[in-house]
Amino acid sequence: MQQDRLWNQWHPVYKADELKDDPEQVYVLGERVVIFRNAKGVHAFKDLCIHRGAALSLGKVKNGNLVCAYHAWEYDSTGECVKIPALPCDRPIPKKARATVYHAQESLGLIWVNLGDDPDPMISYLEYDKAGYRTAICGPYDVKANAPRIIENFLDVSHLMFVHEGMLGDEDHAEIVDYDVAFIDNRFITSKIPVFQPNPDGRSKGGYADYVYEILNPTTARFTKTTEGSDEELTILAAVNQEDNEQTKVFMLLTRNYDLEQSDDSFIEFQDTIFYQDLDIVESQKPELLPLDLQAEMHLKSDALTISYRRWLDELGVETGTLAIAESKRTKRKKVLN
Ligand code: FES
Ligand code: CO
Repeated sequence: MQQDRLWNQWHPVYKADELKDDPEQVYVLGERVVIFRNAKGVHAFKDLCIHRGAALSLGKVKNGNLVCAYHAWEYDSTGECVKIPALPCDRPIPKKARATVYHAQESLGLIWVNLGDDPDPMISYLEYDKAGYRTAICGPYDVKANAPRIIENFLDVSHLMFVHEGMLGDEDHAEIVDYDVAFIDNRFITSKIPVFQPNPDGRSKGGYADYVYEILNPTTARFTKTTEGSDEELTILAAVNQEDNEQTKVFMLLTRNYDLEQSDDSFIEFQDTIFYQDLDIVESQKPELLPLDLQAEMHLKSDALTISYRRWLDELGVETGTLAIAESKRTKRKKVLN
């Protein structure tokens, strides 16, 4: 079941404004995928030409069709081959000449790909279009770790005072008060978790800000940070694409309702610094696949959110992590074909 769940999930693969006229190669759950844009929108195919297996991403987009670089077979957006230059014009194009088409869409400033036959709905992130809010897109960051380890790091409140000491937390204020985790509307959400702010920009210095975390699906999570007595709100959405068994790409949407006239650069720079502070730790974690057996690692009450995450993955049937999911699905697909 979990195979289908991740397989039917939307995975972020590219910044929308960086996908120009040329096709691009991306990886999703071990699949080599080509994405391209034409007047009809964005499209994703298996990155493989059915003629001789060349990567379609080496080709180009001509008149809205994806043209293979090797012998210039032309595929329209539905994946149908509409031109084979070597074929004498009195011969029809074989029906079998098709690309494998995946679902693709542009949303929240990103291109998302879905490999499944029964796509989940796209995540909802209302702040993106909200008046008075502005979003900076950070990343993508390349990480040699599995998506669940990265999501857990994002959800982990008790490391802020150490890994991000002086920026997001203060080691003299490391205690985490008990908080609640609820499952509402198909997602996990915490009560407010107070975190002492050493904010380098002087904002709410010396006081506490409240974090509310949400897990939207196995590879997407968010938090919103607010301070009592202030209208300022910062939300960060982390969306992780498991490219293959050891490589992931992380996109982060940073949405604020303050300093709107200020350029995004300083926010992105700050987020880059924070992300690289986490990188060595996340890449060092063993085992690489998140242990879903709760006896395997140690847990404190302050880990309540990540415990819920592990239990949820377990319930969904992620026995051994994201990689295994991709592998088993691929085997299953092959069987269907044979
Ligand atoms: Fe693509 Fe021949 S391999 S046209
Ligand atoms: Co961190």
